[in-house]
Amino acid sequence: MIDQQLKETKDFITKHTSLKPTLGFVLGSGLSGFASKVKAEAELRFGEIPHFSSSTVEGHPGKLILGTLEGVNVAVMCGRLHAYEGISMQQVMYPVRTLATLGVRTLVVTNASGGLQKKMKQGDFMVIRDQINFTGENPLRGPNWAGGPRFVDMTEPFDKQLSAILTASLKKEKVRHHQGVYIGVMGPTYETAAEIKFYGKIGGGAVGMSTVAEVIAARHAGLKVVGLSCITNLGTGLSKTKLTHEEVKEVAHQVEAKFTRTLLTFTRQAKKLL
Ligand code: HPA
Repeated sequence: MIDQQLKETKDFITKHTSLKPTLGFVLGSGLSGFASKVKAEAELRFGEIPHFSSSTVEGHPGKLILGTLEGVNVAVMCGRLHAYEGISMQQVMYPVRTLATLGVRTLVVTNASGGLQKKMKQGDFMVIRDQINFTGENPLRGPNWAGGPRFVDMTEPFDKQLSAILTASLKKEKVRHHQGVYIGVMGPTYETAAEIKFYGKIGGGAVGMSTVAEVIAARHAGLKVVGLSCITNLGTGLSKTKLTHEEVKEVAHQVEAKFTRTLLTFTRQAKKLL
């Protein structure tokens, strides 16, 4: 059934453009400005793509753009789907499988997240070294999709070579950054101070409500993955202010220019590995 759905999704997309993307991006909350750099050949709303759920979260435009960037054929998801919206993990990961079906071999996942380390400041970035799936669900539960193996190795969820290129790109663009483990939670509540203490203790660098299911789906489909978190705030209890989605969007928006420069540099440098 999933193969039939993916075929219908692919047929719809390829009716709008024959461009075959090799590099995919998922842009997190408030980080969609990067998409304006793409020379777009097709721009599709999630809601019009067969079998895509549509995004309801503010700060997430919910669009799939296909085009070229720095001479690379790209597919950019402006916004993403979250399980806290009430959809299944299968629906959350469906766009990743769509990108894989279109020909994407490398996926850049980005997100807004809460920093778990005291040395972090609002507006810093973190290259995701590894992840902990704390959502309580695994998107691969259920019949296996033939696009990948039943049991997926997760030794290197984030490609080391591409992560090194991303780090070098942040350095080149003089952007404050860290390396760390992303902890993915279900949300939609922000964490309690006790949870943040716990996530810090078990080795977390940042916490957020997305990404982990997409990375699992991408690895299942054999994609290389690289991840970048924007630390829009420090986790609950690490700073005095209360958390709001407005603040998260505002900070992400403030760093959008740095974020865009970094990803453009990354695309140029990573081109030979794609
Ligand atoms: N926690 C969870 N998700 C988030 C946060 C946070 O502090 N900031 C942005 N997304």
